[in-house]
Amino acid sequence: MSSSEPPPYFNISPDEALRQLAPPTGTAGFAEIAQACTQGRNDLAGRGLDAKGSKSLRLFSTWEITKYLIPVAPAHFRRVLRQNESLPQGRSETAGGAKWFTLDEVLRLRAFFAAEGSKSKDYQPYRPKNAAAKIVAVANFKGGVGKTSTCAHLAMSAALDGYKVLMIDLDSQGSMTSIFGGKVEDEWQTVFPLLARHYAHTLQADNQRRLDRGEAPLPLDDTLTEALTVRTQDIIQKTHWPNIDLIGAQLNLYWSEFQIPVWRMQSRGWKLWDALTDVLQDDGVLQAYDLVFVDTPPALGYLTINGLSAAEILLVPLGASFLEFDSTGRFFDMLHSTFQSIEEGENTAARALGRPEMGFEWDAVRAVITRYDGGQQAEMAGLIQAYLGRTLSPYRQDFTALIGQAGESVNGIYEADYRDFNRETYTRGRATFDETYAAFKTLLLGIWRREELETLSEAG
Ligand SMILES: Nc1ncnc2c1ncn2[C@@H]1O[C@H](COP(=O)(O)OP(=O)(O)OP(=O)(O)O)[C@@H](O)[C@H]1O
Ligand SMILES: [Mg+2]
Repeated sequence: MSSSEPPPYFNISPDEALRQLAPPTGTAGFAEIAQACTQGRNDLAGRGLDAKGSKSLRLFSTWEITKYLIPVAPAHFRRVLRQNESLPQGRSETAGGAKWFTLDEVLRLRAFFAAEGSKSKDYQPYRPKNAAAKIVAVANFKGGVGKTSTCAHLAMSAALDGYKVLMIDLDSQGSMTSIFGGKVEDEWQTVFPLLARHYAHTLQADNQRRLDRGEAPLPLDDTLTEALTVRTQDIIQKTHWPNIDLIGAQLNLYWSEFQIPVWRMQSRGWKLWDALTDVLQDDGVLQAYDLVFVDTPPALGYLTINGLSAAEILLVPLGASFLEFDSTGRFFDMLHSTFQSIEEGENTAARALGRPEMGFEWDAVRAVITRYDGGQQAEMAGLIQAYLGRTLSPYRQDFTALIGQAGESVNGIYEADYRDFNRETYTRGRATFDETYAAFKTLLLGIWRREELETLSEAG
């Protein structure tokens, strides 16, 4: 802009402005806009899908496997493959070119090295025997702070590392579900029926007491009756990652936010915060996975409360800016009052009945700086560090252009083919998410080890 030109908001003609204006929008206008978005979304989401309309995961090269996935030197890797014809041999695009493998094949190779290779190497990630899956929730009521990105990347890193992962999407926006190519028709393929089932069991127990007192039982409506037949396994879907499964979300899941308080009014004794934990436990899901990641909506509603109380590790992403720090502080304040009021309610009743009191407990709670720009935010990040101390994860996840830049069907660093990027950009982008995972894994292993030692000392 030359200095002689007026700023763009001067000299706007009302008549010209009117000419550009469309007629007012009514309610139906939203439907039209939504329709246009759905059309666009489906077109975009359809790109890069296979013939069955499913997502597929890219292949992994020998370079990537030996650098990032299995701790073995490339020459040794090739030798072991040559000597064991029954192992996956990979495929190459040109004669004598680099060999590429599916993740399933990588997992088989890793299992082979773990069984046959040097016992001093970490071919398989640590996990105490018989330990239940660790549940990790990612939450912050501030929107757009990187919850879903962090959650998805941690899940993918953990899967590449050899863990078996279940994702639970509690956000009716369904971003995590899109990332993993989930197909969700309605609320019956979300956690909704699981929560309903938990409530239905409470109502049945209440009704038994009503009958014992000679009172009329409350009827179970169609929704509750049907929910009684749903098991977690029925709604878990496979994804294009061989070792990541998904419980998806969709707009209708939001209905739970209205339904849950109605149920709670009807049955005061319903421990709604235990619903998700109890159902996962009762259905044996926690024995079938190593890690469960829960992505939550940017709100502290009933679904988030359920996710947070099921979680043993709570991660709270935030950007290193004043506004995000400020609102994250309020989020912790809300967590305190929400869980305290649940504890008070429960413990008042428990004391009256002479029963033991309850209290929520998390193995670890960590704030995680995301989208960090070292050039602009070092001072703010330092301040946040000073105020939060050990609650802040030691690693700051950098802002990286790799996110959002990859193709429509590709989500994040681990799904992207490194050949599509400048090697330097790729290496730096990947490093920041690898470090985010390393900080998380340190936390996880510490917690698992603590439990393992406790079990040993109890047994001995
Ligand atoms: N490390 C990063 N570098 C660059 N962009 C990032 C990074 N992490 C997240 N983003 C981008 O920031 C935006 C918000 O991220 P994301 O959707 O993960 O946030 P969210 O907290 O889950 O949002 P919501 O509150 O809506 O659920 C997205 O466009 C995402 O691609
Ligand atoms: Mg999100």
